[in-house]
Amino acid sequence: MIFALPARVLHWTMAVLILAMLFVGVGMVATVAERHAWLLAIHKPLGLAIFVLAIVRLAVRLRHPPPPLPPDLPPLQRIAALLSHWLLYALMIAMPLIGWAMLSAGGYPVMLASDLRLPAILPENATAFAWLRAAHGAFAYLLFLTILAHLGAALYHGLIRRDGVLDAMLGRVRRGSPRGEE
Ligand code: HEM
Repeated sequence: MIFALPARVLHWTMAVLILAMLFVGVGMVATVAERHAWLLAIHKPLGLAIFVLAIVRLAVRLRHPPPPLPPDLPPLQRIAALLSHWLLYALMIAMPLIGWAMLSAGGYPVMLASDLRLPAILPENATAFAWLRAAHGAFAYLLFLTILAHLGAALYHGLIRRDGVLDAMLGRVRRGSPRGEE
């Protein structure tokens, strides 16, 4: 079995978008030059696009359950897969919401384009802004680390165990592997 086509398209599209977002975010806070405003103008709409795609993805996941993991996968790895996948969903939804809430609490307008302003989702409050700003940075590191672990696990399945798990997300059917049978 392989992942449903919408699940695969969303997975690879969001992988590119989220990696770009992490680098845009880090680049943005590392500069006070003119490009800061330019990077922030990319960061906000892209972050909100990720939020919308994450909701769609959650709906796709509930509608099309993923192929089962190989039956011989050790229980600890099975638990790690489950927890890390739900952590990724939680962070994909929390990061944009925290960014939006943080700007609202700071009293900054959340502009998607020069004439498209989103409503504030929190009242102005300097303490809330400070907490949310710190949380946005800390969760970004957690997201980075979870993505690295996820990448490591994908390579372990694809290159060492060769059990069809990576093929299922690449859309390749591998004969003779638990996930590779259509
Ligand atoms: C998946 C979505 C998102 C990711 C992965 C992400 C990632 C990041 C990262 C890595 C940073 C730098 C953190 C640091 O080192 O302190 C950052 C900063 C920031 N993000 Fe996001 N972000 C996301 C969504 C959003 C959204 C939706 C908004 C606003 C609507 C937003 C607004 C900001 C702002 C204002 C900063 C700080 C800029 C500064 O201090 O110069 N982010 N983000």
